Amino acid sequence: MSVSLQQHASLKPFHTFGTEARAAWMAVADSVDALRSLRRDIRVRDLPWLILGGGSNVLFASDFEGLVVRMAARGVEEVDGDGDDDAWRIRVGAGEDWSALVARLLRSDRPGLENLAGIPGTAGAAPIQNIGAYGVELAERLHSVTVWDGRHDVLHELSPEECEFGYRDSVFKRDVGGSGPSEAEPAALGRVVVAVTLRLPRRWQAVAGYAELERELRVRGVTQPGPQEVFDAVLAIRGRKLPDPAILGNAGSFFKNPIVSRDVHADLLAHAPSLVSYPLAGGRYKLAAGWLIDACGLKGYTRGRVGVFEKQALVLVNRGGATGREIWELAREVQERVRERFGVWIEPEPRIIGA
Ligand code: FAD
Ligand code: EPU
Repeated sequence: MSVSLQQHASLKPFHTFGTEARAAWMAVADSVDALRSLRRDIRVRDLPWLILGGGSNVLFASDFEGLVVRMAARGVEEVDGDGDDDAWRIRVGAGEDWSALVARLLRSDRPGLENLAGIPGTAGAAPIQNIGAYGVELAERLHSVTVWDGRHDVLHELSPEECEFGYRDSVFKRDVGGSGPSEAEPAALGRVVVAVTLRLPRRWQAVAGYAELERELRVRGVTQPGPQEVFDAVLAIRGRKLPDPAILGNAGSFFKNPIVSRDVHADLLAHAPSLVSYPLAGGRYKLAAGWLIDACGLKGYTRGRVGVFEKQALVLVNRGGATGREIWELAREVQERVRERFGVWIEPEPRIIGA
């Protein structure tokens, strides 16, 4: 089998910031055999690899001087539960669109992912940062992740424990592989997610404790929400405060919510009583980075062709014709301003190429 390779390819159509960037080489892989074929190809086998799904969590601050592999493995199938009668197991190809998958499973009476409705991107990228929204994280609905280890050309099935999931974190982010945090850790022949196997409990229970979701359901007069009601409410909230990348380039939250010690939290609260934060196990606190940025007066801020979104300060946007470098410079400015004001450093959520 051979896979066609494109040289000096434009990445603009393949990520959601809408900026121009080029890849030295680009290929589409729809199977493990396709990945193997690329692994043998002398033009690209020794270059850094970047695996791309929907490009909704990546910022190209420069071109990529390696091979971009767009994952396109498809398929959604119910698989044997191996004696686990309490849940459905569904194996999903890495290239399946996440948002469409959530809607499709709901329609076929396999609920459980409603809180994660409307998140852009692919199923294969979902475990990379352990996607989460409105009270649910992928890790809670996952049986395993199938990865191809390009260094040794073998397939592995990793359990959630082996994925070492955390808040917007997994083993893949620390990998010297498919999803390392920077070009300093090239993805050359690293781990590629080829499929995820979901575990959806047969006894469905609403997760409706997230304050904004609870409020939305109340406003809709829903007291005993079913899966469809949760799905509709989540999409309504998202539609109100997140920009549609087809209209305004963005990557969702640009920063992670920082986690601080009890002492730091107490100190911040003494100076800023309206600080929004959430207690975590072990006495630490997660701070709402959107609130921190907002409190610096940066919500709606414009710097040239880029800016901070008017309705959610955690989202950086391309106001039209911007470069990735301009977005990265704005991000640095926001980080500095938050540090000056609160002494807290906020880390980017998307993978930054060429920082
Ligand atoms: P990409 O952007 O293509 O890739 C992201 C990272 O994963 C890169 O490091 C890439 O190399 C790696 N990767 C991708 N596919 C693979 C693979 N098959 N194997 C190995 N590595 C791979 N995220 C949330 O968690 N919650 C939200 O509520 C949320 N809301 C969003 C709203 C908007 C409007 C946008 C634009 C983004 C939002 N995001 C959210 C972020 C984003 O949608 C998720 O991180 C998503 O999982 C990214 O999927 P993708 O296919 O676009 O990944
Ligand atoms: N806030 C402000 N000003 C702002 C933005 C937020 O004061 O400009 C306050 C809000 O009032 C709220 C708090 O900050 O009290 C939290 O805001 P929100 O509920 O919008 O959630 P978030 O923490 O900003 C996180 C995720 C989102 C996810 C939502 C819902 C991160 C980095 N972001 O946002 O994920 O959809 O919660 O669960 O954890 C993403 O990762 O790309 C993403 C969109």
